[in-house]
Amino acid sequence: RTVFVNGAYVPENEAKISIFDRGFLMADGVYEVTSVLQGKLIDFEGHAVRLERSLNELDMGMPCTMDELLEIHRELVRVNEIDEGLVYLQITRGSDGDRDFAFPDPETTKPTLVLFTQSKPGMANSAASQKGAKIISIEDIRWGRRDIKTVQLLYPSMGKMMAKKVGCDDAWMVEEGFVTEGTSNNAYIVKGNKIITRGLSNDILHGITRAAVLRMAKEAQMEVEERSFTIEEAKEADEAFTTSASAFVMPVVEIDGATMGDGTPGPIAKRLREIYLDESL
Ligand code: PDD
Repeated sequence: RTVFVNGAYVPENEAKISIFDRGFLMADGVYEVTSVLQGKLIDFEGHAVRLERSLNELDMGMPCTMDELLEIHRELVRVNEIDEGLVYLQITRGSDGDRDFAFPDPETTKPTLVLFTQSKPGMANSAASQKGAKIISIEDIRWGRRDIKTVQLLYPSMGKMMAKKVGCDDAWMVEEGFVTEGTSNNAYIVKGNKIITRGLSNDILHGITRAAVLRMAKEAQMEVEERSFTIEEAKEADEAFTTSASAFVMPVVEIDGATMGDGTPGPIAKRLREIYLDESL
């Protein structure tokens, strides 16, 4: 694989960053994941806009222009021959060659920019999406700025492992009785013809796939209600699903051991997945 590090395209085993990089020492960085279908980037602009916002919230600057960023994405997709897969981008605050809690001087410290691709053939038609996901609920103990897409992903990783340990696929996080989001996706339930998902705030990541799917649902005359819901309400809903750039629309077939419907992906989740994949291309 060819990767991009601080201005250069290099083979992955030649890519280097400093051990003092604040991304490494302090999770002081942000990231984006953009999916690729038929060699094309899906919703690049949405991801770029959110990236700029994440950087602003953390007083970090963009290391290059948006046009340059798009060009790097395209070049990596091209040289690595990605048909279906992902482009991962990370920007950290860099380092001034030492460890310190205070931010280094932005005048003299350049941010670190890293991009790489992941090839995932069959992603649009994955076995996992046909089966649907089994999820557990866990307490949401993350920090209060989940709207910033930082690389602090230890708790979401642990949540995924808690799910795997009990034979499930993923976890939904719950705060003060209400579902916030999945470990790496936004969470939804369906009641009748109505799609219910938590409203936007600092409590959740403002999903780019979420925005697209809600827009497409409204265009398809489905009802959308943005409000919080509990795990109890979710268990009794007709359907549930998640959205993310890496899994698109993923049906949920089990929540904390309770089977959703007949235990197979629900019709609305399936339809939204089809609409999303069709319209994104
Ligand atoms: N995760 N919520 C969280 C906590 C996420 O990490 C993600 C994305 C989402 C969905 O956002 P989007 O639709 O913009 O991908 C919601 C990415 C895919 C990841 O960490 O790999």
